[in-house]
Amino acid sequence: MPSHIHSVTKVHRIACIPGDGIGVDITEAAIRVLSTLSNTLSGFEFDFTTFDWSSKHYLERGWYMPPDGLEQLKKFDAIYFGAVGWPNVPDHISLWGLILPIRKSLNQYVNVRPTRVLQGTTSPLSSCATNPTDLDWMIIRENSEGEYSGQGGTSHEDSPNAIATEVSIFTRVGIERIMRFAFETARSRPRKKLTMVTKSNAQRHGMVLWDKVFYEVAKEYEDVETDKMLVDAMTVRMVLQPKSLDTIVATNLHADILSDLAAALSGSIGIAPSSNLDPTRKNPSMFEPIHGSAPDIAGEGIANPVGAFWSAAEMVRWVGEQKAADGLMKAVENVTARGVKTKDLGGNEDTKGVTNAVCAEIETLF
Ligand code: NAI
Ligand code: MG
Repeated sequence: MPSHIHSVTKVHRIACIPGDGIGVDITEAAIRVLSTLSNTLSGFEFDFTTFDWSSKHYLERGWYMPPDGLEQLKKFDAIYFGAVGWPNVPDHISLWGLILPIRKSLNQYVNVRPTRVLQGTTSPLSSCATNPTDLDWMIIRENSEGEYSGQGGTSHEDSPNAIATEVSIFTRVGIERIMRFAFETARSRPRKKLTMVTKSNAQRHGMVLWDKVFYEVAKEYEDVETDKMLVDAMTVRMVLQPKSLDTIVATNLHADILSDLAAALSGSIGIAPSSNLDPTRKNPSMFEPIHGSAPDIAGEGIANPVGAFWSAAEMVRWVGEQKAADGLMKAVENVTARGVKTKDLGGNEDTKGVTNAVCAEIETLF
């Protein structure tokens, strides 16, 4: 190599929060696969820092994140998250103690949830048995407001007159930025098609503004084909006409539910990834599989790590390592194509078996 050319190794600093249950197993698996990737390919490295923020420690210490937790996270290039929640802590305490403040405070207002049928796996939809590519969706979830705004309150809590409100917030700024992101996403995909999910027939204020802003933004994207679905009818269309959908934009609650359905329709909730993005890049973005801590299988070593690997690939892409991201996904699909799968996908491997196979595949590919 000529002396004036220096090979520069870029270091990506990653904060890891394994959390609870299978979040711990799949984060460990993701770190192993990412380390194999950076050892096999040159030019970049990952510097992992693990935070022990979990329900177990919450019960001992009384907090999920220390007071300067968000400030600590801001120093990283990206955050890798496992799952939070355990049966001995109410779920609203764990979610509002950890994952929701991160998403909100770090301006991660977009949640991207791709779904497709991976090679060697099967969809429960009969139409996809012959044409697995019929299901290839990109769900864009509003991640900062809507039904999960956190506004509301409870009065007379322990009395028969108990009253509670849960206020949905829809702002023009919040709607406009998610719609713009969804249109850009739709435009970047071959079909250039965006379906907007709503419930503006029954919810006549917030959802009506949601629809209105969608049609306003649509005028800037005349090359993108659009349509509108009420959320209840959307579940039917996802099952009966998967091919008719491509990019989908929905509110925080609607997309939360629809993306679990999407994951199940593509084979298992264990394969589905998500990216919590701050598109301004002023804060680190966060990557996590969509599943939870799965207390029913935690500690058994049988969690499907594919959703964790796919999330890791999206993180690698976000920090700028396109080739490594594509390679990781190729490795994952070569492994599923060979039938190396966990039980939820009809296979008989465990977490470690699939992880080993993906690591070996990365070494073979590069
Ligand atoms: P879950 O996603 O943890 O589990 C639902 C079902 O899918 C279970 O039967 C589980 O065994 C199975 N499953 C999930 N991931 C799997 C994987 N990788 N491989 C194989 N099978 C898998 O949802 P659930 O049971 O409703 O919630 C459990 C806890 O997780 C709760 O405390 C909940 O609040 C929390 N949670 C946290 C999330 C997060 O941290 N972002 C997201 C969803 C739930
Ligand atoms: Mg969910």
